[in-house]
Amino acid sequence: MRNGAFITFEGIDGSGKSTQLKRLAATLQEAGHQVVVTREPGGSAGAEEIRSLVLEGATDRWSAETEILLFTAARRDHLERTILPALDAGKIVLCDRFADSTRMYQGLSRGDLRALVDQLHSLMIGREPDLTVLIDMDPATGLARAKGRQTAEERFEDFGQDLQDRMRAGFLGLAQEFADRFQIINGDQSMDAVAADIQKTVLDFLND
Ligand code: ADP
Ligand code: TYD
Repeated sequence: MRNGAFITFEGIDGSGKSTQLKRLAATLQEAGHQVVVTREPGGSAGAEEIRSLVLEGATDRWSAETEILLFTAARRDHLERTILPALDAGKIVLCDRFADSTRMYQGLSRGDLRALVDQLHSLMIGREPDLTVLIDMDPATGLARAKGRQTAEERFEDFGQDLQDRMRAGFLGLAQEFADRFQIINGDQSMDAVAADIQKTVLDFLND
């Protein structure tokens, strides 16, 4: 069985990533693994400060290019201070979103900036997850779930249904592009059914 592993969860807003990540963490801990649960943007003190800058305020607060820099700066701090030390200690890192979200949200939402995202990623991050769990689901349902939450972090949720549709298609495209590390889970099911699918996928991966 593997020792440390870097596992990310991706999908549109409201797809159930945070819910499922917590459930998987509990399952893995019961099985005797040391687990670190973290998220992006955020996951370290400095990156959490950047999170407020990027997720709160007016939709046009930052240009897409500035956003790429801010998300990448947050990711670098998160990687240095949280992710890499945990992996070095043999822990399983479960991370709610990572660079694939930047490839999608900043790479696709305001013009085609994917090449810029990839260049900055290879310069400053240079690390991909060992496994990425993509929770795929109907965008209208995801948006309705996400809107049910009352938070100040709504810069991106303001973009609405059209962006959710494009993100879903984009994530499925990424799953093909990085087929070696992506696993697609059907999110249009009960929480228990989604949890069971994810558990099987991750345990198969860890036992491989
Ligand atoms: P994400 O982190 O992907 O945005 P969350 O885990 O926060 O998604 O879930 C968004 C909302 O949808 C929450 O209120 C959560 O309780 C609910 N939810 C999550 N998974 C399901 C599911 N399979 N069926 C119904 N509601 C769900
Ligand atoms: P998150 O807290 O995961 O939101 P949700 O629970 O609604 O899925 O992420 C907040 C928002 O940040 C989400 O709309 C996606 C966006 N985001 C980016 O635009 N780029 C990124 O690199 C990351 C990590 C997130």
